[in-house]
Amino acid sequence: MGAELPDDAVEAMRRAEVVTVFTGAGMSAESGVATFRDVETGLWQRFDPAQIATPEAWASDPGLVWAWYQWRAHIVHEAAPNRGHRALADLERTHTVLIATQNVDDLHERAGSSSVSHLHGSLFAPRCSNCARPYQGIDAEPEQAVHELRVEPPACPACLSPVRPGVVWFGEGLPDDAWRSAASAFTFADVVLVVGTSGVVYPAAGLPERAAARGIPVIEFNPEPSALTGIATHSIRASAAVGLSAMLDALGASG
Ligand code: APR
Repeated sequence: MGAELPDDAVEAMRRAEVVTVFTGAGMSAESGVATFRDVETGLWQRFDPAQIATPEAWASDPGLVWAWYQWRAHIVHEAAPNRGHRALADLERTHTVLIATQNVDDLHERAGSSSVSHLHGSLFAPRCSNCARPYQGIDAEPEQAVHELRVEPPACPACLSPVRPGVVWFGEGLPDDAWRSAASAFTFADVVLVVGTSGVVYPAAGLPERAAARGIPVIEFNPEPSALTGIATHSIRASAAVGLSAMLDALGASG
């Protein structure tokens, strides 16, 4: 089952050299990774992510927060990139593709995309909560399935402070380097794809808005309307996997 693509959306992609892609949790939904606002299932069902992904939760119960993120890293580790991730990697055969993702998973990289900025950090970049040194300890490896509700976070080998998840929590600033590379990706965009995001979290959601304000074509792929549908040149009611692979087929670039 393909997706109906407007001719001028395909034409905008064909003419483009630089394609900037803004992705959210819906990008990974077809890989079996729950979107952020889906109800979590199983062990963590009764926990609201918005309550755990906060500096306050970390301060009051680091063992719970560390276990939750290790569980999420394990889920991602067991998942695989979907056709949408692979379509974006295939697109690099004919275009410069710059991805700015709100996702903390590594599925874009595992699909083969070579330029990915993680605006909200990554499940696979734990760092010391005090000296910010990246942590590479075996106890942060996602191979170990975490089924306990609490796991004491490892201690930083340099300063012995607790190691924290490498993700951005509500109320925290975005990583400077990711923000700068994402902002320049939008500056150089000939076309912007917005895939699988509700578009309600700023400052990230402001990036496609600014591109649209400069007259850059914005093509959204989402089964539902989102807060960014209003600024999209085309909003295609299709999932990431179906919509992006249909676009690649239309461009004749898919492998
Ligand atoms: N393909 C494309 N889009 C999908 C799919 C799919 N298969 N399934 C769901 N969606 C869409 C939903 O319609 C929704 O618009 O993905 C979007 C998911 O929205 P959210 O769960 O709000 O995720 P996201 O937009 O990434 O949230 C942004 O908010 O909670 C913070 O830091 C967190 O990075 C996250 C940010």
